[in-house]
Amino acid sequence: MTEKILVAPSILSGDFAEMGEAVRKLEEWGGDYVHCDVMDGMYVTNITFGMPMIAALRKRTALPLDVHLMITEPERYVEKFIEAGADIVTFHPEASKNPAEVLKTIRAKGVKAGIVFNPDVDIEKYAELFPLCDMITVMTVYAGRGGQSLIPWCIDRIKLVKDILSEKGLDIPVEADGGIGESNANLVKEAGATVLVAGNSVYKSSDPKKTVASLKA
Ligand code: DX5
Ligand code: ZN
Repeated sequence: MTEKILVAPSILSGDFAEMGEAVRKLEEWGGDYVHCDVMDGMYVTNITFGMPMIAALRKRTALPLDVHLMITEPERYVEKFIEAGADIVTFHPEASKNPAEVLKTIRAKGVKAGIVFNPDVDIEKYAELFPLCDMITVMTVYAGRGGQSLIPWCIDRIKLVKDILSEKGLDIPVEADGGIGESNANLVKEAGATVLVAGNSVYKSSDPKKTVASLKA
């Protein structure tokens, strides 16, 4: 493992009354991206936050805002999230009527674009979208809430994405999201993920700085 590992703490596990502080802390702990989980109560049951939160966080940090849209028809909102200050916008392709167009729209605005695969989504069906992506995210839990346990068979899906990328001659990062902590980070790294989302394992750690360092090691 020679590739640099980036850690993207999910502010979903932070204190919602202290979001500025949640971002300040993750900077102090060595986080690389601020992972922002947007849920709309339709694509997933939960509702979290929208563009105003992204705009508010934008004023608090220079770190890239990695905005994970768990929303139905993301085409309705991607431009608004970019205007709010997102640096990376990812969405679930099966939630969109035209994922290729959404990826192109995001990139045309100079922002990084990516798709996210829930455990029950056929990755190969969307492989033709990979050349339009700057990052591919593999969920290691079912999207919808923080603090779940990693699903072991999703590790093979990271390998599948890596295989498809190498077949296509594409060198773009793979992000893994859900249930990742010090005890299983090696599995996702060995499978080829280089961006690790971590919510509870970082925010609920007794020593978050050490946890972030260990996830990167
Ligand atoms: C799940 C979210 C994840 C999650 C990560 O729907 O996409 O980003 O909050 O949190 P942990 O690491 O606690 O699973
Ligand atoms: Zn996420």
